Amino acid sequence: MKKVLITGASGGIGLETAKQLAALGYHLTLVARNEDKLNKAAKSLSGTGHTVFAADLTSEEDLQKVVNDLKTEKYDVLINNAGAGLYGKFIEMPLADQLATMHLNMDALVTLSYGFLQNASAGDSLVNIGSLLAHSSLPGASVYAAAKSFVANFSESLWYEFKRKDVFVLGFNPGAANSDFHAHAGGQTSDFPKFVVSSVEDVASELVKALEKRQKPRVVQGWKNRFMLFGFRLLNRKSAVNIMGKISPGMHS
Ligand SMILES: NC(=O)c1ccc[n+]([C@@H]2O[C@H](COP(=O)([O-])OP(=O)(O)OC[C@H]3O[C@@H](n4cnc5c(N)ncnc54)[C@H](OP(=O)(O)O)[C@@H]3O)[C@@H](O)[C@H]2O)c1
Repeated sequence: MKKVLITGASGGIGLETAKQLAALGYHLTLVARNEDKLNKAAKSLSGTGHTVFAADLTSEEDLQKVVNDLKTEKYDVLINNAGAGLYGKFIEMPLADQLATMHLNMDALVTLSYGFLQNASAGDSLVNIGSLLAHSSLPGASVYAAAKSFVANFSESLWYEFKRKDVFVLGFNPGAANSDFHAHAGGQTSDFPKFVVSSVEDVASELVKALEKRQKPRVVQGWKNRFMLFGFRLLNRKSAVNIMGKISPGMHS
């Protein structure tokens, strides 16, 4: 039975992905800050023997505990899914909050990737959750969009470095999804036109398929998102960022 450690698994895309993997027979370790939510999440998974690990990945001490777990337990898959955004104009939001999101979205992800890949063997997989914004800037969430570009490029380089060892690295980039992410970031899911918002079930199902196929280093979730991206490539950057600025939840406050 394959063992998976997934971060940000107490809700949203992470929990749904855990549910779908558990249904396929994977054995899950769920990581997030809220232990009560984690225990409830673990109980909702099919199968038995799933475990939880309460950790704040922005705390150096907690992060090292998870790294130690990655080194002592042999996991077949690490999914770096925990992430957070902040909607608002750069200069109007506290710098410390923006640096904290950079720490979670990038430093913690790199640290966990390093711990996992040191022990990885043929057949293992690392999945890093980026965003459609990896391919675009977003005024009103400038630090978040930049962090997700980092995740996508970082993951793609690792894919190449590890392919000969048959360790698969996937950068998975979802578009807007109906989780609590937007509320946590200071916006709401209804800020987005309904037709572009995917269900977390659909996002997770595409993620699981890409993980099992082990083919593409970079996957953009959802045909509507791939279509939008194609359209954006036809525009010059100035027009693209002007459109993103007009529709961004973070520019309306
Ligand atoms: N939803 C979208 O529209 C969307 C679009 C593109 C990309 N994404 C990406 O998809 C991933 C999952 O997002 P989501 O939509 O599922 O968001 P979500 O519903 O807000 O869930 C975030 C998860 O991360 C955990 N988390 C947050 N801060 C943490 C920390 N400091 N340490 C450990 N765990 C932490 C949360 O649990 P606790 O609060 O208990 O810690 C929760 O389990 C993120 O990387 C996000 O950037 C989301």
